[in-house]
Amino acid sequence: MCGIIGYVGGGDALPVLMNGLATLEYRGYDSAGVSVLTGSARPELRVVKRAGKLAALEGALADVGLAGTVGLGHTRWATHGEPTDRNAHPHVDEDGDLAIVHNGIIENFVEIKEELVADGVEFLSETDTEVLAALVARHRREPADGAAPGTALVEALRAVMRRVDGQFAVALVDRREPDVLVAGRRGAPLVLGHADGASLLSSDVAGLIAHTRDVEALTDDQVAVLTAEGIAVTDLHGEPTSGQRFTVDWDIDAAEKQGYPHFMLKEIHEQPQAIADTLVGRLDGDGRIALDEVRFDAADIRTVDKVYIVACGTSYHAGLVAKHAIEHWAGVGVEVEIASEFRYRDPILTPHTLVVAISQSGETTDTIAAAAHARDQRAKVVAISNVVGSTLTREADAVIYTRAGPEIAVASTKAFTTQIVALGVLALFLAQERRTLFPEECRDQLARYEALPGHLESLLEVNGDQLAGLAERIADAAYVMFIGRHNGVPIAYEGALKLKEISYLHAEGFPAGEMKHGPIALIDEGGPVVAIATRGHVHGKVVSNIQEVRARGAEVIALATEGDTTVKAHADHVVYIPDVHELLTPVLTVVPLQVLAYHAAVHLGRDVDQPRNLAKTVTVE
Ligand code: M6R
Repeated sequence: MCGIIGYVGGGDALPVLMNGLATLEYRGYDSAGVSVLTGSARPELRVVKRAGKLAALEGALADVGLAGTVGLGHTRWATHGEPTDRNAHPHVDEDGDLAIVHNGIIENFVEIKEELVADGVEFLSETDTEVLAALVARHRREPADGAAPGTALVEALRAVMRRVDGQFAVALVDRREPDVLVAGRRGAPLVLGHADGASLLSSDVAGLIAHTRDVEALTDDQVAVLTAEGIAVTDLHGEPTSGQRFTVDWDIDAAEKQGYPHFMLKEIHEQPQAIADTLVGRLDGDGRIALDEVRFDAADIRTVDKVYIVACGTSYHAGLVAKHAIEHWAGVGVEVEIASEFRYRDPILTPHTLVVAISQSGETTDTIAAAAHARDQRAKVVAISNVVGSTLTREADAVIYTRAGPEIAVASTKAFTTQIVALGVLALFLAQERRTLFPEECRDQLARYEALPGHLESLLEVNGDQLAGLAERIADAAYVMFIGRHNGVPIAYEGALKLKEISYLHAEGFPAGEMKHGPIALIDEGGPVVAIATRGHVHGKVVSNIQEVRARGAEVIALATEGDTTVKAHADHVVYIPDVHELLTPVLTVVPLQVLAYHAAVHLGRDVDQPRNLAKTVTVE
């Protein structure tokens, strides 16, 4: 969580930092701050920071001149200490010489803080970050005559990184070494930008794209010294090394709203294109399904006897959808687990286990840790991610990229549907390698996925007004239930998650058959129940479950397949979905639920793209 940005070059740093923070604000918006080195003869370290969103910082900067060519910015998702001005980043050392911005958690900060307090250091905030600032200051020694700029600061950072535990990305600026930024990472993302006459750093590529496409992702325990002339990367012992360098192939427009009132709505409407892009080139020259990157012998797939899918939040729901396709087509048992739970029990993992780790960002700590745990036990790991070069993709044995483009809204939409599609490709790949489907059957199924963007286009065209009206009906409800069966269950979970995270309405998803075992007690006169009742082998069962809740007073909003005549008789409102293969239906059924949640949040005046208490990428445990 948290976004960090840094600039050193020939231009004015502040506008670069503020534009970068606007792009990174989705990562956390409890507070924001900047520090800039001002004045050239004896540079002064100036810090301005405010609790609240970026707008509060903009207001604070209105009357302050912060002219300088080197600086750092931060947007915070609070972990240690409340979201106040005082706890906002950047944090400075006691003498006010250096400033630090930090994303992540220092696990042994209490012990270090006690040592420093015993040594006479006074702290102003409750953060682990201020402890880092003080520790770097303690380790910093004046550079030897003739030492390269930044030497003292980078050596201090290396020493501190050898001392601290946790996952973090940090960047520092020091008025005594005024032409450099110094940065390091362990377990949290940090990308460096090589630009003309400038160097930048950011928590993600979106923060850099306005300045350069030439990007270098730092890997764990690397530190970098950035100057206007270039970037030098070393390990924790000062040995030269390099990060993973790549060229960004998407455009700045992709990270802007393009006339939509919210990123979420834009991203909902981008789903047809995102799915089409995710499916491009999935057949090799021999007409066989191919993954993006495979670092193991595909023949090993034949001996896989168990699949675990690990993920969090919406990505976890995509895993629950995929379980049905993988078991059906590839004939291998699948368990889907919340990533944060996986490594704290004793999953049976062997070289014949395939672990599929799903993460839009590829930086979710829980998912990365689950995948690492699996690899430690010699299981093979396939990553499904939307971010090229992300930590998860670098540490996996094989990768399938969702090509959804940048997803900015905190509520995930296009990442989810493209994940289901990418997982469908994986299911067909497994079926092909395990010979549970003939190659032409795999191609036929792939063609069904390729037809989805067209169906989605028509679905998005017709249902908008109906869903806006329904959203107003549910906006006053004390409780909204979502029910489904088979692969409608994860869509019920996802519909409820979307609604709760952006509208703050109390919503819950249930397997429809489970209602009678308890949750049906919640049904009250007029209480809304959203039922996924599309065509398939459990259709009749869901219709019965709808009747059960309706008999107890529920107002039922049903999703049904176009041409279905039965559901209408039992529901108060019906939203029709194009008729596609049962295993592919979730890609369509989730979309009206995204739109419903969106309109409910707008109606209630919520902050759709940046809902309270959340952050887009969760890089803490
Ligand atoms: O980047 P990831 O896919 O690993 O993120 C996982 C979850 O944090 C994410 O899906 C979250 O649940 C979304 N806010 C849901 O809309």
